[in-house]
Amino acid sequence: MTAAGFQVSGSAPRNYQQFNAVIMAPFVEAVIAGAGVGAGDEVLDVACGTGLVARRVAEVVGESGSVVGLDVNPGMLATARSLDVPSGATIAWSEASALDLPYADGRFSAVVCQQGVQFFPDLGQAAAEMARVAAPGARIAVSFWATLDDQTYMRAQADGLRAAIGEEAAAPLAGAFRLSPETMSAAFVAAGLRDISAEELTSTVSLPPMDPYAAQQVSTLPVAPAFAALTDAQRQAYVDGMGLALAGYRTPEGRYDCPFATWVVTARK
Ligand SMILES: C[S@@+](CC[C@H](N)C(=O)[O-])C[C@H]1O[C@@H](n2cnc3c(N)ncnc32)[C@H](O)[C@@H]1O
Repeated sequence: MTAAGFQVSGSAPRNYQQFNAVIMAPFVEAVIAGAGVGAGDEVLDVACGTGLVARRVAEVVGESGSVVGLDVNPGMLATARSLDVPSGATIAWSEASALDLPYADGRFSAVVCQQGVQFFPDLGQAAAEMARVAAPGARIAVSFWATLDDQTYMRAQADGLRAAIGEEAAAPLAGAFRLSPETMSAAFVAAGLRDISAEELTSTVSLPPMDPYAAQQVSTLPVAPAFAALTDAQRQAYVDGMGLALAGYRTPEGRYDCPFATWVVTARK
C-alpha cells in the first residue's frame, strides 16, 4: 500500500499553485463554511497542498485564531511556505500523513480537507484521525470531485491524456474521481461522527484559452512527467484536442466556461 496518492515533484507544486487555483477557487468557501469556521477557531487543513484553503481560513479565523496546514508532500509545503500569509494571521505548515496526525486528541475546533480524502490509502484511518483531533462539537468538512461523468474539462482531459500518454500512464488520473458520498459518509459514521450530510456543488469556472492552459494544467498533476516526455507535436495535439472537445464551452473571448462538480461531506464530533 502506498503512503499517499497525488504525489508530485519538481516544478509541479509551483505549477499547481499557478494553474490549479482557478479550478479550486469556487469551492474553497464551501469547505470552510461546511466546517463552520469562524473568528478565533483553531483549524486543521488536512492535505493542504500549496495552502489554497489554509490561507483563506487564516483570513476567516483572524488574529485570535490559528491554522495548521498539513501535507505529506514536501514540495507542496515548500510552495505553501513561500507564499504570503494574510496580514496578522498565523499558519503553521506540517509535513505528516493524514493517517497519523501528530496532534493531541481534541486539539482543533474545526477540520477541513479539500480534494485530499480520495487519495488517502486508508480512508477509515484518516477519518478516525480527523475525528480524534477534533474537539467535542467541532465540525469536519471534506470535499472530493464528483464522478468523471459529471465533469467537463476533467473528462476531456482524461480522454485526451489516455490517447496521448496511454491507458497505463494515465491511470492515476482516475483516483481523483473514485470516492462516493456514501463511502465518505460511512467512514465518518465508523469514526463515531454524527450529523453527517453530503451536498453536490457545481460551479462554472472560466478557464484561460486551452492553448497553452491545457498543457500548463497537466504540468500540475502526477502524470506530468509522462506528458513532458512526449514530443512537441504530441503535446500540441493534446492541446488542440482539448480545444475541440470543449468547443461547446468556448466564450467569444476565447475562454472556456466549464462546470466542475464536487461533493462536500460534513460531520460533527
Ligand atoms: C489535489 S491535492 C489538494 C491540495 C489542496 N487541499 C488544495 O485544495 O489544493 C491532494 C493533496 O493530498 C496530499 N496527500 C495525499 N495523500 C496524503 C496523505 N496520506 N497525508 C497527507 N496528505 C496527503 C497530496 O500530497 C496533495 O498535496
